[in-house]
Amino acid sequence: MSNLIHLIYNSAATYPFTEEDFSVMLRKARSKNASLDITGMLLYIEGCFFQVLEGPENVVIELAETVRQDPRHTRMTTIIQEPIAKRAFSEWTMGFTQMSLINLGDIEGLNDFFTICKVLTDIDSGRAKKLLTAFKQGRWRVKLSVATQYQPLATRAVAKKRRVIEPRPAFTFAFQPIVDASRRAVVGYEALVRADKTGTAADVLQRIQLGELGAFDEDARRMAIGFASRLGLAGNLHLNVFPHSWASAPKTIDSSLETAKRCGIDITRIVFELKHEATVSDPCAVSEWLSESRRLGLRINIDDFGSGYAGLALLDHYQPEMISLSMWLVRSIESHGARQAILRGLVQTCSDLGVDIIAKGVETIEEYFWLRDEGIELFQGFLFAKPGFESLPPPMLPADIM
Ligand SMILES: Cc1cc2nc3c(=O)[nH]c(=O)nc-3n(C[C@H](O)[C@H](O)[C@H](O)COP(=O)(O)O)c2cc1C
Repeated sequence: MSNLIHLIYNSAATYPFTEEDFSVMLRKARSKNASLDITGMLLYIEGCFFQVLEGPENVVIELAETVRQDPRHTRMTTIIQEPIAKRAFSEWTMGFTQMSLINLGDIEGLNDFFTICKVLTDIDSGRAKKLLTAFKQGRWRVKLSVATQYQPLATRAVAKKRRVIEPRPAFTFAFQPIVDASRRAVVGYEALVRADKTGTAADVLQRIQLGELGAFDEDARRMAIGFASRLGLAGNLHLNVFPHSWASAPKTIDSSLETAKRCGIDITRIVFELKHEATVSDPCAVSEWLSESRRLGLRINIDDFGSGYAGLALLDHYQPEMISLSMWLVRSIESHGARQAILRGLVQTCSDLGVDIIAKGVETIEEYFWLRDEGIELFQGFLFAKPGFESLPPPMLPADIM
């Protein structure tokens, strides 16, 4: 006998459903589900679907695949698919909001989910009930964004004038823009160390001994500031910092500040991106250092937030002005229920703490729209612009035609 599972997903209708549409769908689905031994519930509110399917594993997975291909909806995201000990529902029913339009009793299988909601009190507590409750409270609603076109973005921080670059030492920089989607503007650039035009930061970093990291870090920041100034950067300059290297070079901030002053870059435009690639041996010293940096007007961003050593605790310890989301969280978020739930929690936490979020590594329009619809405003990634070698590339922003 096949194992019992439930599969819970959400999706968005491709057109506004009428009572007639529901009636047809419900009748067909009810008889098919009954023959397949599938129970559960389908909900619809303001263009959003939410469905619980429970039954034998193979059958549920196969039906979900059929449903996924159905052109009446889109952006189907599996929130959870897991084994269950017993079913929450004894049959398959459906709830939707336009109750005033029809008489509930007239259509077999239509339930009271959005009105008195006896359905919820009838079922045992468990994951299905928790997620249905969350949906009833307004979460897990897919928002539809329609946009596929691209148009060049009006730039604010883009270089005013490209100047000739002087001969390079052992390493140089590429710059990648950070865009504010709501203002449709570039707010700054991150300086990324490079050995040459085609290389990556890793090519440079792997040549550096751990003991030399502090000195390298300091040199790199000074060089990046000089570069940015020569390129005419007008917005924020994001500079990478390895906090675990501070033990060997605790005074690095001073030289960065001096260079910034000399190059005419206002300190308040500099953002230190803390890269936690190892444990920090003296977190108190780091906190003190950060306080001092802040007093001078620098801002702090925790890079790659949510992976490795860059965990939730840093929001408490360092109280950063911003965080950059780790790429695993961003990647294909539009179709990963767990990532979506984590992101929503993070957005709430950061909003409560007054921390800005930058979604880094955004590569697809789907990732961008999903994140933007959740309230993220700052973006960086190949979707907008690849890092420009020794230049400040102007980004593209998907046109919002809503
Ligand atoms: C949001 C949504 C939920 C659906 N749920 C079910 C369902 O629970 N059971 C079902 O048989 N069909 C459901 N369908 C319809 C299926 O996609 C498909 O049209 C139906 O299974 C008939 O497929 P068949 O003609 O290949 O048998 C749903 C469609 C949509 C858009």
